[in-house]
Amino acid sequence: MKISVFVLSVVMVCVIGVHADVQPQRDFNLQRFAGRWYRVGLAYDSPGFLRHKDELRITAGMIALQPNGTVNLTMWAMRSSGCFNTLYQYERTNTPGHYTYFSTRHNKTKDITVVETNYTEYALVLKNKKFEREYTQVALYGRTQKVRQDIIQKFKRFSTSRGFPTDSIVTPHVSEFNADVDSYVVHTNYDEYAMWVILSTEQPSGIQSTLVKLYSRAMDVREGVLTQYRALVRNQGMSDDIIIYKDNKGECDQISTASPV
Ligand SMILES: *[C@@H]1O[C@H](CO)[C@@H](O)[C@H](O)[C@H]1NC(C)=O
Ligand SMILES: *[C@@H]1O[C@H](CO)[C@@H](O)[C@H](O)[C@H]1NC(C)=O
Ligand SMILES: *[C@@H]1O[C@H](CO)[C@@H](O)[C@H](O)[C@H]1NC(C)=O
Ligand SMILES: *[C@@H]1O[C@H](CO)[C@@H](O)[C@H](O)[C@H]1NC(C)=O
Repeated sequence: MKISVFVLSVVMVCVIGVHADVQPQRDFNLQRFAGRWYRVGLAYDSPGFLRHKDELRITAGMIALQPNGTVNLTMWAMRSSGCFNTLYQYERTNTPGHYTYFSTRHNKTKDITVVETNYTEYALVLKNKKFEREYTQVALYGRTQKVRQDIIQKFKRFSTSRGFPTDSIVTPHVSEFNADVDSYVVHTNYDEYAMWVILSTEQPSGIQSTLVKLYSRAMDVREGVLTQYRALVRNQGMSDDIIIYKDNKGECDQISTASPV
């Protein structure tokens, strides 16, 4: 009898230990972490989220560094009423990869830990490390909207190890319809623009389409960049008179064009 009590207490210590001791990415490099990310997965165990989890979409975010070390994270989300952005300002701590911010919504200081990232492909981010169920989240960030299966598995394993039930771990699909999507950054100069070619094959019809997108860090795009973009569109076998120039409504909009191949 005594022995089994002893064993039980050891197990409990281990479980608490795992939850308390998540370290940030070793040698975390904030400069390399900056720039565009997509939130492609979210583990969140709150009843409110679970009710609406099927509505979760991939959202775009941009991480920008301020000279004083504060990090701006802007997240964009498309809702039925339009495009919204939210700015989070993360203050650095003495530990690289660990940040704090004040949540006005919950009236409390929360923290963010970049648990693991390889900078060019994915990042696992833990919100509110102290395990308070109500507020803890794990997010999977990808540099592209589609990340490799083994990275999704890594995210699921990590979330499960933090105690999230399977049905609270959500990875939204890239598009509304079921399609195999390949996207390529064709041209970018990193701090101004990026041109993407997105090839998708809708299932089960097998209809293929090509989408050429121009993303810009700023709302205004130089004529030279537009010329290069039009050339890319023609190069993909499309006529540049079908290009849709979006109004300045924010990051949810990009200048884009689509056509069946
Ligand atoms: C961060 O956000 C603040 C507040 O909107 C803004 O004034 C500042 O220019 C931003 N800094 C960067 C580097 O984006
Ligand atoms: C850094 O600057 C921003 C705005 O420029 C400010 O909101 C933030 O509080 C500053 N952070 C620190 C640690 O001083
Ligand atoms: C926020 O929390 C503090 C203490 O944690 C409390 O004194 C304050 O009244 C709270 N503010 C609001 C708006 O709830
Ligand atoms: C990190 O990113 C690169 C892409 O730049 C990828 O080739 C590599 O496999 C990634 N490493 C891991 C461990 O996922």
